[in-house]
Amino acid sequence: MYCFGGCWYFFILVFVIVYGAETTNIAIDVNRNLTILCPIHRTRDVMWIRELPKELLQPHSIVLDNGSLFISQVNQNDSGIYSCSRENVVNSDVKARVNVTIRTPPPALVNVTVRPSTILALLLWEVNGTGGYPIINFTAQFRLAYTNSSWIPISPNHITPNSRQIEVYKLVPNTTYEFRIWATNQLGRGAIKEAHGTTLGVYKEEELARHMLEGADKFDTRVWAVAVGIVMGTLVLLGLGICFLLYQECRIPGVVEEQEIIELVPNIILNPGFDPCSQNESIP
Ligand SMILES: *[C@@H]1O[C@H](CO)[C@@H](O)[C@H](O)[C@H]1NC(C)=O
Ligand SMILES: *[C@@H]1O[C@H](CO)[C@@H](O)[C@H](O)[C@H]1NC(C)=O
Ligand SMILES: *[C@@H]1O[C@H](CO)[C@@H](O)[C@H](O)[C@H]1NC(C)=O
Ligand SMILES: *[C@@H]1O[C@H](CO)[C@@H](O)[C@H](O)[C@H]1NC(C)=O
Ligand SMILES: *[C@@H]1O[C@H](CO)[C@@H](O)[C@H](O)[C@H]1NC(C)=O
Ligand SMILES: *[C@@H]1O[C@H](CO)[C@@H](O)[C@H](O)[C@H]1NC(C)=O
Ligand SMILES: *[C@@H]1O[C@H](CO)[C@@H](O)[C@H](O)[C@H]1NC(C)=O
Ligand SMILES: *[C@@H]1O[C@H](CO)[C@@H](O)[C@H](O)[C@H]1NC(C)=O
Ligand SMILES: *[C@@H]1O[C@H](CO)[C@@H](O)[C@H](O)[C@H]1NC(C)=O
Repeated sequence: MYCFGGCWYFFILVFVIVYGAETTNIAIDVNRNLTILCPIHRTRDVMWIRELPKELLQPHSIVLDNGSLFISQVNQNDSGIYSCSRENVVNSDVKARVNVTIRTPPPALVNVTVRPSTILALLLWEVNGTGGYPIINFTAQFRLAYTNSSWIPISPNHITPNSRQIEVYKLVPNTTYEFRIWATNQLGRGAIKEAHGTTLGVYKEEELARHMLEGADKFDTRVWAVAVGIVMGTLVLLGLGICFLLYQECRIPGVVEEQEIIELVPNIILNPGFDPCSQNESIP
């Protein structure tokens, strides 16, 4: 069970074959101190390099006596892939990789746009990552542009993490406003993103309506007149035809005595099939 000399190399070889292709993942909050152990060497003669992004180690990182890499107060730029291997080994294939992720407040939102109407506006945004912790909420505010007036919160004050848009009410037409929004996670508020938007003037909306009706001006009125003429003519002919048919079918004498009408009413009520036209023939 005791390991001397080359035995360690065997051990390391097995380690590399089994684990070498894999990468150790480390996640740490921004501004913390980080100590990364080299998984395969525990001595001073360990060489650490940055593989991704491929650059020199940051000045605030040092290799400790026991071979660990110490990075004080990590920031976003320290994230990436580090690898350690034995120093002074010509063919240093034997190395271990560590993937370091720095958790931060949410990055600035992207595609922040304003879609203004006359008295309200729609503020839209997209997220570009959460920073490592889930987003708790968004905060959105607005104020008159180019002034130092205080920011007005856009209610609801708590915008849920799934929201990607919010409506702003009670704006004044034809006025430029400044909007700002940021996301918050458990590490704090992310970078602020600003956008401007100008509400529509009242007559601008009328203009918009006129624009939509613009096609009506170019419409040929003669076509319209002919179409109306055809429809009216058809209706008149139809009406005349019906009158003529009714006249033919039921030649009621010009003057109907009042008594006859009174008699007709109960007949129609009692006998729905009653035909006043045939009455004259059935009664001798
Ligand atoms: C981080 O390391 C620095 C020295 O590099 C030290 O001054 C500081 O106290 C450490 N912070 C914590 C939280 O350990
Ligand atoms: C290496 O030394 C540092 C302090 O000098 C210590 O915090 C760390 O735990 C040590 N690592 C190992 C693997 O002993
Ligand atoms: C990270 O790197 C960028 C670009 O090199 C630099 O502008 C920024 O200040 C750095 N951030 C920190 C916290 O050092
Ligand atoms: C490093 O870890 C992060 C977060 O777990 C992951 O998104 C990224 O793909 C990893 N990089 C590599 C090269 O494995
Ligand atoms: C931002 O908008 C561009 C084009 O408008 C689009 O390609 C991109 O995917 C959007 N970004 C996000 C995070 O949705
Ligand atoms: C989104 O975040 C990545 C880094 O996480 C950055 O490189 C990229 O520029 C960001 N996109 C925008 C549109 O800001
Ligand atoms: C807003 O205030 C800052 C300093 O508080 C000042 O420099 C700037 O001129 C002010 N802008 C306006 C438009 O009042
Ligand atoms: C967002 O959440 C944070 C942390 O829970 C809280 O302090 C903050 O007041 C919330 N903001 C809004 C606008 O609700
Ligand atoms: C909007 O305001 C500007 C001056 O601030 C004015 O010139 C313009 O006529 C106004 N437009 C409308 C549609 O009210």
